Amino acid sequence: MSATKSFPESVLISESCLQNRIRELGAQIFTDYENKELVLLGVLRGSVLFFADLARAIFKAQDENRTREVLLRFEFVQLMSYQDSTRPSTVKLIRGGSDYLTERHILIVEDIVDTGRTLTLLCEHLQTLNPKTVKVCALLDKPSQRQVPVVVDYIGFEIPDTFVVGYGLDYAQQYRNLPYIAVLEPI
Ligand code: IMP
Repeated sequence: MSATKSFPESVLISESCLQNRIRELGAQIFTDYENKELVLLGVLRGSVLFFADLARAIFKAQDENRTREVLLRFEFVQLMSYQDSTRPSTVKLIRGGSDYLTERHILIVEDIVDTGRTLTLLCEHLQTLNPKTVKVCALLDKPSQRQVPVVVDYIGFEIPDTFVVGYGLDYAQQYRNLPYIAVLEPI
């Protein structure tokens, strides 16, 4: 099978900007969940790079003697809302979290909140598992596209109404490994 041709891209959020903000988010989350056990719930596949860096940022926020800590566990869910296009389609839950989430503090780690439909479906699903608390951390927020109101507790960056790729986000499964967030240039 031949590879799809890539479009040129322009950087919207640089690698250093991403890493600085993630460090801040990690410190904030560490403070908020200090001495608690927290389940980081990654939404596959777009959140993987953010998830990995955020998990390390939470660890690095503790002091050297580790007198204060956050015990982190990892879980993943998978939802699908785009089918190789830049327009939303129906949201489906492909892989749900396990019963392990019952009675736990959960922090959903999302790549981007756009219409809000993915997050709404996920939160409804999680409520059936009776968690202790559910909060949301999204790297990117596109508030201008919201169709369903959602609460996002931790936001990395608010971005304009534009389709972005990189740092986990894809277009037709490409660009996920860019270390920055970019906008595709029309050709
Ligand atoms: P929502 O359900 O419309 O809020 O969309 C959430 C999901 O749509 C995200 O987890 C992404 O997978 C995808 N998505 C939304 N906007 C973009 C974008 O600009 N680039 C890539 N994926 C996006």
